[in-house]
Amino acid sequence: VMELVIRRYRPSDKDTVRRLFSNGIREHIGPCFQNAMTSPLHLTIILSLGVVGYLLGSLFTALLLSAAWVGLIYCCSYDLFARYVAAKLKTDMQDIDGSYLSRPDDCFWVAEAEVDGATQVIGMVAVLCIESGNEKHGELFRMSISPKSRRMGLGRRLTQTVIDFCKERGFSKVVLETTSTQMAAVDLYKKLGFKLVLTHTEAYSPSWVLALVQVTILKMEKLL
Ligand SMILES: CC(C)(COP(=O)(O)OP(=O)(O)OC[C@H]1O[C@@H](n2cnc3c(N)ncnc32)[C@H](O)[C@@H]1OP(=O)(O)O)[C@@H](O)C(=O)NCCC(=O)NCCS
Repeated sequence: VMELVIRRYRPSDKDTVRRLFSNGIREHIGPCFQNAMTSPLHLTIILSLGVVGYLLGSLFTALLLSAAWVGLIYCCSYDLFARYVAAKLKTDMQDIDGSYLSRPDDCFWVAEAEVDGATQVIGMVAVLCIESGNEKHGELFRMSISPKSRRMGLGRRLTQTVIDFCKERGFSKVVLETTSTQMAAVDLYKKLGFKLVLTHTEAYSPSWVLALVQVTILKMEKLL
């Protein structure tokens, strides 16, 4: 059994949590691309471009047009996740103390455990208090577990940490956003009682990028 400690973020964790966040989001580029490529829409487009290219030009034209479409889909998958990471590394993840630890109703936690004989940060999560009128709720951010430490209940424990923190403060609910590509996360949140409340396509990338890769942003919430 792994000895696990969930504690507040410290400035010395900065490089590790930035890496954990970045890798945890960028790992979705591949699955997003694969998912789009196996959709009937893109298979049809690639086949059609191939046929048109062959009829109007040659086998080379056919391959070129099909490859260009595959390339476009890859670029969209890349853009969607990489642009988000780049934006966050320059803002809240640049000043974690200022963004998450300067008010008593916000927090940033790391999960620390002994791995290969050394104490390492293997997970993280954050919450921000959102106030509207006299209603307060929490928004969960930055959930990420190191790939080697997954499926051991750590994501569940960190989500519960956020829920408990919000309950203690009398918040009305916990909300969060994820994407339709992040199936492990969606499953985790559903298991902990979060419900899908709406889907949209407003992201850091233009909405046609999300449309091409057939990804939606999912807003979920758990009433407390
Ligand atoms: C999502 C993530 C945090 C889950 O962490 P984890 O520690 O592996 O989660 P847990 O072990 O607590 O799993 C809890 C439940 O989540 C679901 N789940 C977790 N990983 C899953 C997977 N790969 N596929 C399907 N369901 C999964 C399961 O329902 C699981 O319950 P079970 O193990 O009893 O079946 C982790 O996969 C991760 O860091 N992903 C990359 C970053 C990311 O997408 N973060 C979410 C940002 S919104």
